[in-house]
Amino acid sequence: MARSQTFTCSACGARSARWSGRCDACGAWNTILEEAPLSAGPAKKGLGSKGRALELLDLATEEAPPPRARSGMDELDRVLGGGLVPASATLVGGDPGIGKSTLLLQAAARFGAAGLSVVYVSGEEASAQVRMRAQRLGLGEAPVKLAAETNLRDILTTLDRTRPALAIIDSIQTMWADNVEAAPGSVSQVRSAAHELVSFAKRRGTAVILVGHVTKDGQIAGPRVVEHMVDTVLYFEGERGHQFRILRAVKNRFGPADEIGVFEMTGGGLAEVANPSALFLSDREERAPGAVVFAGIEGTRPVLVEFQALVAPSPTPQARRSVVGWDGSRLAMILAVLEARCGIPFAGLDVYLNVAGGMRVSEPAADLAVAAALLSAREDAALPSDMVIFGEISLSGALRPVTQTENRLKEAQKLGFSQATLPERSNGSVPQGVSVCRMNDLASFVGEMFGAG
Ligand code: TYD
Ligand code: MG
Repeated sequence: MARSQTFTCSACGARSARWSGRCDACGAWNTILEEAPLSAGPAKKGLGSKGRALELLDLATEEAPPPRARSGMDELDRVLGGGLVPASATLVGGDPGIGKSTLLLQAAARFGAAGLSVVYVSGEEASAQVRMRAQRLGLGEAPVKLAAETNLRDILTTLDRTRPALAIIDSIQTMWADNVEAAPGSVSQVRSAAHELVSFAKRRGTAVILVGHVTKDGQIAGPRVVEHMVDTVLYFEGERGHQFRILRAVKNRFGPADEIGVFEMTGGGLAEVANPSALFLSDREERAPGAVVFAGIEGTRPVLVEFQALVAPSPTPQARRSVVGWDGSRLAMILAVLEARCGIPFAGLDVYLNVAGGMRVSEPAADLAVAAALLSAREDAALPSDMVIFGEISLSGALRPVTQTENRLKEAQKLGFSQATLPERSNGSVPQGVSVCRMNDLASFVGEMFGAG
């Protein structure tokens, strides 16, 4: 009988029976690799007998939940859901060079200073390099134990002996389990290393943080292949050329997902940004056409960001649609609604849309702000600079209310905005000093803001 082969995508971990050039699941090119078939042959016996009977428990418990450890870095603690949970497994993914090692070294030092025993295992840098970075960050004296190692067996033995409260593994792609016949960084190695470390965390009560590089190269497995094994998945993001870094929870078994922490990369490491709205709006120009301030919500926190649009006649038959920080297909939808419901065509016009400051927005509540930015750019008419805008646009052109209207307006008021445009049926009280303009549909918004359109 022919051995059944499996093929695995090294970017997202999807399995398929055939090789192909492009992964059906995530759309990445050249990432499908053949995986060694599992060694176990056909099961010899059914599993019906001879197992150990498990002790079954009630849901009710007298035990208090284990205390969370706080690092004192509020931006990190909040994204973790209020601190680090003992025996949890956390993945921190991000592009190479974005600052993952810096963040985790600083976090290790803070957790250490808070009384946790912390072990930092670097598989990428020599101990001397890590120490040098710690010195430069002023963390030379921090109570953190360091090892430079990639052999998983040795690492697990060490952790088992020292039983730290927190172990940081930088990075999971460099770890190498000697019982798996595959190259370091391959999907099987990364999966099995993550599996061993996560089960160590559960067994011994150590919180484990795994670092995972987002890879472009198909030969090395990306962090997505271990996302399902861990309790919490955080991504560290940022645009090249911007100092802002955003730590985003995309999955969290112990807290809300969608929470963000904002940092700034400085010469002395990562600094927390407690008031991101002020930062994202810091270098706004007065009344620029195409610029609109959106009152957004990221996780539990309101964040104001500026959308900037540029609309110009296209020199080519195929007009350009270029988006940074927002969803390209959502932009296409808004352009279509503007054309179909308000009679404002964008054919033959290049459209550029950008979220200022390197922030990425994913809320549909930004629809109305995007539409306003596009119109303002197209008409070359600036909107009042003390106005915030939010609301979801449906395909019919109606404006749909969004959650947390009151929080959005409060944040706007705090930052000195005095006007807001929002959907008609929005609930929530309006803070003093903010005048609101409520709109039922996109066409009336266009009429109100830009005359007849
Ligand atoms: P690093 O943490 O090594 O990234 P990763 O582990 O995600 O690959 O960060 C590397 C970048 O951060 C590097 O380009 C230099 C910059 N950096 C600073 O700007 N200031 C600092 O204090 C440190 C330590 C790094
Ligand atoms: Mg690193």
